[in-house]
Parts: sequence; structure tokens; C-alpha cells
Amino acid sequence: EQAIKIINLDELEDQARQIIPQGGFGYISEGSEDEWTKARNRAAFNTVQIAPRVLHSVEAPSTSTSVFGVSIKTPVIMAPTAAQGLAHTRGEAATAEGVAAAGTIMSQSTYGTTSIAETAEASKGAPWFFQLYMSNDWEFNEALLDEAKSHGAAAVVLTVDSMQGGYREPDIRNEFQFPLPMANLAAFSETSGKGKGIFEIYAAAKQKITGADVRRVAEYVGLPVIVKGIQDPCDAALALGSGASGIWVSNHGGRQLNGGPGSFDVLPSIARAVNGRVPVIFDSGVRRGSQVFKALASGADLVAIGRPAIYALALGGAQGVRTVFEYLTHEFRIVMQLAGTQTVDDVKRAKLLHY
Ligand code: FNR
Repeated sequence: EQAIKIINLDELEDQARQIIPQGGFGYISEGSEDEWTKARNRAAFNTVQIAPRVLHSVEAPSTSTSVFGVSIKTPVIMAPTAAQGLAHTRGEAATAEGVAAAGTIMSQSTYGTTSIAETAEASKGAPWFFQLYMSNDWEFNEALLDEAKSHGAAAVVLTVDSMQGGYREPDIRNEFQFPLPMANLAAFSETSGKGKGIFEIYAAAKQKITGADVRRVAEYVGLPVIVKGIQDPCDAALALGSGASGIWVSNHGGRQLNGGPGSFDVLPSIARAVNGRVPVIFDSGVRRGSQVFKALASGADLVAIGRPAIYALALGGAQGVRTVFEYLTHEFRIVMQLAGTQTVDDVKRAKLLHY
């Protein structure tokens, strides 16, 4: 646990590479196939520009916002990422603590290395989401949803882009196997995942996921269900028609389908399809305050980050995670002012240019 200094989020990757063992680092950083989509996630932001606005009398812009009735200090939240024990001995518990200290939302993955209870406790009353990878075993799904609800999850994130793991070469080259048990698997299934490769873990997940599954989860859990992994307006409409209370636009950080567009490329059309009916969360490739701005101005209500937070977790534990969220929010606040926006709602109404 130590203070880390951040100049920009990209630099964390090389620093983290020095301290995370090769197999774990490969798993965290990788994309699928030749990582074209992972790279496009970054490049896509360069297809639009922020309109510089002056004479708007903006001082000390406010980054605070709210979602599902909970107020947060920043629109930047934590994406669900598996096996954070690979980065730090305290794993998700440290992440949850850092995220809470930054005043924003933690998302717990089904494949966390600390338990739902322990991670929830570390959130210290701050809002958090529980992410479900549906299993073929409905009792497993129920057990996880019950556990998440009883410990106070604000919403369930149902990830639907992982009916099959993307082809990720570093894991194959490194013969990567999870060196740690995954707490929820250990508690509620036959295998803990320890000593298993990623393909074996995905094999237990439900492959055929449809709108009926969204509805079943929503009806069972009685919490807002956010459908994660949406990259097409028609699929957003399908999710909404099946009872989704939120749409999470994501291509899994370029780890699943390679050859598809950057996540930011598809955000505007999906936001138009959702048309303000439910919150839109956006992720994949966000590393800069200006990118947070562009995502919000393109229809996102919240923006999530994955890898940079895990790298910061490795480098500085809970403090490191806190610093990442505060730092990215700081960059975003500078952009807000230079673009003449006082509030997050102003950002959502801001004009983007296409030169
Ligand atoms: C993920 N992601 C992910 N998503 C999910 O719904 N459940 C999960 O368990 C995981 N696990 C996971 C592990 C690791 C190591 C990474 C990097 C990502 C995807 C994640 O939620 C998010 O969509 C991406 O991380 C966003 O892209 P960036 O910010 O990492 O570029």
C-alpha cells in the first residue's frame, strides 16, 4: 500500500509490468487475436473533437452525478474485472476500498478472488454493482444474486458478450492458469477455478444467452439489471424489451470479438436507440479526461475503466486505485472548464465536432 504518482494512465501499464508476474500481466493486458479492436478502442476517440467554448463563465466545474438514485462524485466508475488477486494480495477488497474513497461505484465480478461479502464490506457503504456471468446451473446464479442482494448491491450487471472466451494469445503462450481460487466459484460451485485456464472457466458459463435470460435475472433479483457488452442498437433494443434497466456499451476492452468497431464508434447510435429511457454506461479504452468528456457528450451517463485501475491496484493497493479515479476525474474537470461546461449535464449537452 503506497502513494503512487500519476502523470497519465497509460504509463501505469509499463510500471505494473515490472511487478505483476508474467502470466497474470498477460491476462490483464491482453486483447483477442491481433488486438486490432483493442487498439481501435483508443483510436475511435480521435474521430470526433470537443468544441472549445469560451465566454461561458465556468469556474470550478462539478463532476458529481447520480445513477439509480445514488449520488457519486465522478461519472468515472470501476468496471467488473476478474481475479484481482493477480495484482494485489488484498484483491477486490482493496479495489473496493479505493473506489469508495474516490466517491464512486465499484463493480464486483463473478470471478472475484475475494468474496462478495468481504468486497461489499470494503465498500464501506459506498454503492456497488454485482456483475453476473450466467452459469448453466441456475442454482449457482440464484446463489450469487441472493448473496449480492443481501449484501446491498445497487444493481446487477449481466455480461452477455462472453458466451465464449476471445482467442487471446498471451494466455496460450504463457499456459496461463489462475493461481488463486475465485471466491464465488469456491463457495457455490464444484471447482474454485484455481489451476484452471481461462477457457475452462468460460466453459462453465452459459453460452446461449437471450432476452429471456435478462428477464429471468431481472424478475428473480428485483434489482436494476444493466446489460453489459452491447455494441449494436438493435441489441440494446432487445435488452430493453427484456426488462433491462441499464445498457452498458462495451467490447470487453477488446478481449472478446476482435475485428469489431471501437466501443466509442458505436456509442452514439446505441445512445440514440436508448433515447434516455435508462442509463447508458460506456467502457473500453478510456484513459483520458477528454475521452470521458467525449463519451458523455456522445450519450453515456457513466464511463467505466478496467485495466488502469488494476495496474494502480498492483502499484499502490487501495490508495493507488483511489488515485486513478481522482486523477482521471481531475483531467476530466480541466476539460470541462476548457469546453465551457459547468456540470455533467452540461457535458451531456455539449457539441462534438467532426473535422
Ligand atoms: C475484464 N472485463 C470483465 N468484464 C466482466 O463483465 N466481467 C469480468 O469478470 C471481466 N473480467 C475482466 C478481466 C480483465 C483483466 C479485464 C482487463 C477486463 C471487462 C471489463 O469489465 C471492461 O469491459 C474492460 O476492462 C474495459 O476496457 P479497459 O478500460 O480495460 O480498456
